[in-house]
Amino acid sequence: MVVETVVVAIWVMLPAYLPNNVAVVAGGGRPIDNGRTLDDGKRILGDGKTWRGTAVGTAAGVVAALALNQLHPFVSGAVAADPFPIAAAVSLSFGAMLGDILASFLKRRTGRQRGASFPGLDQLDFVVVSLVLTAITATGWFLETFTLPVIAAVFVLTPLLHVSTNVLAYVFGLKDEPW
Ligand code: CTP
Ligand code: MG
Repeated sequence: MVVETVVVAIWVMLPAYLPNNVAVVAGGGRPIDNGRTLDDGKRILGDGKTWRGTAVGTAAGVVAALALNQLHPFVSGAVAADPFPIAAAVSLSFGAMLGDILASFLKRRTGRQRGASFPGLDQLDFVVVSLVLTAITATGWFLETFTLPVIAAVFVLTPLLHVSTNVLAYVFGLKDEPW
């Protein structure tokens, strides 16, 4: 029972987990805010949020969802979740990137430099926005899939997965900070 819930939670969140990690390796080039600052003199988002990272990260999440849909017939006995509708694939993936972008906006407003940590926000920003966006654009699928136990599993597992993948990315020299 618990194992099933955890399997569903990880399966349906993969399209949201991938984008930020792909952006780390695919990012670079023109920042989304084009270097602009707000009245507070601080960058809108900072150099860590780029068009390329966002586009490639989002695409990776959508491709992951489509790939999981192809696998679905072979594992539907083990994974109690319906295939991703395209709206859910895009919302989970783009929502994750958007959550991360909103977090950078908040980090800059609170005086944090690029790369500074914001405990709590760093681990859950992308989950909250991808779930809210998916609830709006693929409501039926969302309600069937994200039962309360699955949501609970997502909120417990995500910080653990986030911390461990970021430490790994840091150890392998892909990221400048371990968060
Ligand atoms: N990245 C990107 N575009 C995004 C998100 C991430 O290009 N939308 C890339 C950037 O190269 C960024 C790296 O992935 O430096 C790590 O992402 P993240 O930790 O989210 O950014 P930070 O550089 O730490 O900046 P911030 O303080 O704004 O989070
Ligand atoms: Mg960072």
